Amino acid sequence: MDRNLFEAAAKVRGHAHAPYSRFPVGAALRTKAGAVHAGCNVENAAYPEGWCAETSAIAHMVAAAEAGPGRQIEAVAVVAEMIEGRLTAPCGGCRQRLAEFGAADTLVEATDPSGKTSRTWRLSELLPAAFDLGER
Ligand code: THU
Repeated sequence: MDRNLFEAAAKVRGHAHAPYSRFPVGAALRTKAGAVHAGCNVENAAYPEGWCAETSAIAHMVAAAEAGPGRQIEAVAVVAEMIEGRLTAPCGGCRQRLAEFGAADTLVEATDPSGKTSRTWRLSELLPAAFDLGER
């Protein structure tokens, strides 16, 4: 487990706005430029208008850096309570958003808030055959 990313994700999880699901999530990513960007889920009374922690972290990255290494995701950590013994891996939509700025070997790590249970995947394992328009 990447301790720095875990700690950034665990900290921002404390800022989650999740009054409807009561399921706060924190995410922190490291770019190829070495910067760390974090984000939490932000829910809404109109339920479908809420968004995920990973999406918030990506938005912070894009706002902070121009195209280049500062927008290439090397690794991302997600922290949430375990559900029936399962860790939280990014949802399908967030996998696609991560693929936009990541690569097949981008590390995706899910950890429980205590830091005791963790699992790491490559993005290509979570999103095989990802949709990619290529250079255009
Ligand atoms: N959620 C995330 O923020 N990230 C994930 O990887 C899974 C789900 C959020 C969305 C919603 O606010 C809450 O968790 C329950 O689905």
